[in-house]
Amino acid sequence: MINALAAMTETLTPPLSVEPIDWFARWRDRVEAREAQNVRWQSPRMGDLGFWAVAAPRFARMTRNLPTTDPFVQAMRVRVQPDDVILDIGAGAGRYSLPIAPWVKQVIALDPSPEMLQQLQLIAAEQGSPNIQTLQGSWPEALADLPPVDGVICAHAFYWVREMEPYLQALKTATGRFCLMQIRTHQIDAFLDPLFLRLHGESRPPEPVFLDLYGALTQVGIWADVQIAKGSSRSYPEVEELTEFATALLCWRPELASVLSREEIHAYLEGILEYRDGRYWLNDQANQMAMVSWQKG
Ligand SMILES: C[S@@+](CC[C@H](N)C(=O)[O-])C[C@H]1O[C@@H](n2cnc3c(N)ncnc32)[C@H](O)[C@@H]1O
Repeated sequence: MINALAAMTETLTPPLSVEPIDWFARWRDRVEAREAQNVRWQSPRMGDLGFWAVAAPRFARMTRNLPTTDPFVQAMRVRVQPDDVILDIGAGAGRYSLPIAPWVKQVIALDPSPEMLQQLQLIAAEQGSPNIQTLQGSWPEALADLPPVDGVICAHAFYWVREMEPYLQALKTATGRFCLMQIRTHQIDAFLDPLFLRLHGESRPPEPVFLDLYGALTQVGIWADVQIAKGSSRSYPEVEELTEFATALLCWRPELASVLSREEIHAYLEGILEYRDGRYWLNDQANQMAMVSWQKG
């Protein structure tokens, strides 16, 4: 009887493992496919500092306009303690260093872009946040120069990173009590798909998103907790603000105007945006965020 049951169990039990996925390789393939396209399209790459220099004023606007109800701010709020030293990796213009500063002893805002850090310092001075120390440097190389910290935050500072294994291993080492990351669940530029084809004659390969990060984290032994902040629409005071961002996402340059003009990009966006309550709303899913966290000890 027992033997018969064992035989049945054997037949019914599904295989315990599925074909393993090399998440680091998958991540690398995605990054390299987009980078190769950027080279073909003569467009700055996100791995280049020049890209972030141009983006710094836009990130400063986002920092100034961040609502206090932002889900990542709420997620930081419940994790930090007054005596904490917090490391913000890829801090940019301080979108998350600034709101966290009043709740902790010190924030170390790490970023390789001097323009981003300049914007951060400007806003910190305006808002009176003396406990943010900026540090120019890149992850994971900067790990060696840092003191131990109580918590690490890292929002959107990796979509272009080729080698995620050393990046995540260093994150694991740096994690004091907790680590909290933020990443998109959907493609940021999907709303521009028809324009990519028209402009460059090819579609844009996907960049790594939440599922890729989650898989890569399991590969360094981290089974993280996840909270999804449901995608709400993004809104802009003027269509022009999104046009500027769209031209960057599209790798558009003036020489390409005969294929697709800036006015046509603007008109396309007007067609997909919804005008409501004095603002233009983009109803796509790219604003849906995954907040990925783990604790030590
Ligand atoms: C998309 S922005 C995000 C900024 C900020 N975390 C936010 O959410 O507003 C990415 C930032 O990562 C920075 N960055 C680029 N390469 C980096 C690296 N290897 N290590 C740390 N930061 C990096 C860029 O300079 C840029 O400021």
